[in-house]
Amino acid sequence: MSPRPRFCPRRAMPTRPLPPAVWACGWRIIWQRAGVVAMPDGLSAAHVSDRAVTAAGVGFGCASLGSRIGATEGRRALERALAAGITWFDVAPAYGDGQAERILGAFAAAHPGAITITSKVGLAPRPMGWRGALRPLARSAVAMLPQLRGLAATGRVPARLPLGPETLRQSVGASLAALRGAPIDRLMLHDPDPADVTRPDLLACLTDLLREGRVGAVGVAGSTAAAAAAVVLGAPYSLVQIASSPFDPAALAPWLAGWRRAGGGVVTHGALGAGGALARLAALVARPDTGLRAALAAAGYDDGPPRTAAAAFLTDYALAANRGGICLFSACAPHHLEALAARMAAPRRLADLMPVLDRLNLMSATGTTP
Ligand SMILES: NC(=O)c1ccc[n+]([C@@H]2O[C@H](COP(=O)([O-])OP(=O)(O)OC[C@H]3O[C@@H](n4cnc5c(N)ncnc54)[C@H](OP(=O)(O)O)[C@@H]3O)[C@@H](O)[C@H]2O)c1
Repeated sequence: MSPRPRFCPRRAMPTRPLPPAVWACGWRIIWQRAGVVAMPDGLSAAHVSDRAVTAAGVGFGCASLGSRIGATEGRRALERALAAGITWFDVAPAYGDGQAERILGAFAAAHPGAITITSKVGLAPRPMGWRGALRPLARSAVAMLPQLRGLAATGRVPARLPLGPETLRQSVGASLAALRGAPIDRLMLHDPDPADVTRPDLLACLTDLLREGRVGAVGVAGSTAAAAAAVVLGAPYSLVQIASSPFDPAALAPWLAGWRRAGGGVVTHGALGAGGALARLAALVARPDTGLRAALAAAGYDDGPPRTAAAAFLTDYALAANRGGICLFSACAPHHLEALAARMAAPRRLADLMPVLDRLNLMSATGTTP
């Protein structure tokens, strides 16, 4: 993992009052660094890693900044995340229709040394053309009718770049320019073909980028097969990023255990969104024949409507399944960050979640999971 990230308690004041759970989380990380309270997972202040400086091992996903979320609202979301103690920010050239790196770069410039940035190479935004002008209209329409979100995202599938040393260097140069000079603490190959992960020309280029200090660490963000190829190879890779939810429990795969023990980083995404885990679990909970409502209640998730309980459970699962790693979340809406901060403040163990996981396993074994 990159040794560079440093903790900086200097924070810009948020534009709106933050909910108490968010403040509590931000202060907790400051106390942890000051040695007043214990670090998560028994980390000592002397063993400060990227994970220790970002609250509760949580990273903020910037995929929607510039597309689903406008630049101004995106900037507010970044400020709120930082105030909550989150210092790990995940971005890519393709995110936000090509706008996310620029939005994050302006934010990083206002908080020098306070955040760490992961960017990627391999996918590029498709030119929006005249549709770019309709983006603000589309945002308002989606805000009023969230069912239109899928439609608004149509045509946003990024283009796959033909990977080669030249492309890598050009992409890193463009990212550094968009990030306004903020360092790329980690560079990931973005959804690569597993065969590309071990290509000698790409490995040589990644090693050169590391040696030149253009990037702090390199990894692979994509399919389980691509991540496994990086884990088998090891150096120059030092971290992998994969989807993880109870429907896709890749973070618990035995082949990651040795990687973690050897100091390899594991980042997960898709706790609620990618793959539709929240929609899927909420639909299952709503079905009386699944017994999932009772299982959630048995695990302590009996407050509020089924979707809220399902979101809380999935967030806790993501954090518990990747203890010691980083879990990425998109929480641009203030109430989503507040919900996330509440989960971060009271982490659960995987064992606590067993009533629900057992039920899902049973359904999967009997072929009743849709
Ligand atoms: N291949 C890759 O490398 C890859 C793939 C996918 C994602 N990622 C990274 O991971 C980040 C997170 O993506 P994800 O798919 O994992 O997103 P996620 O955190 O699972 O969130 C997805 C959606 O859930 C909403 N949400 C957040 N909290 C909620 C709650 N309590 N209740 C209901 N809805 C809630 C978010 O809304 P708001 O944001 O509006 O609050 C967002 O629309 C991305 O931004 C990106 O940085 C990487």
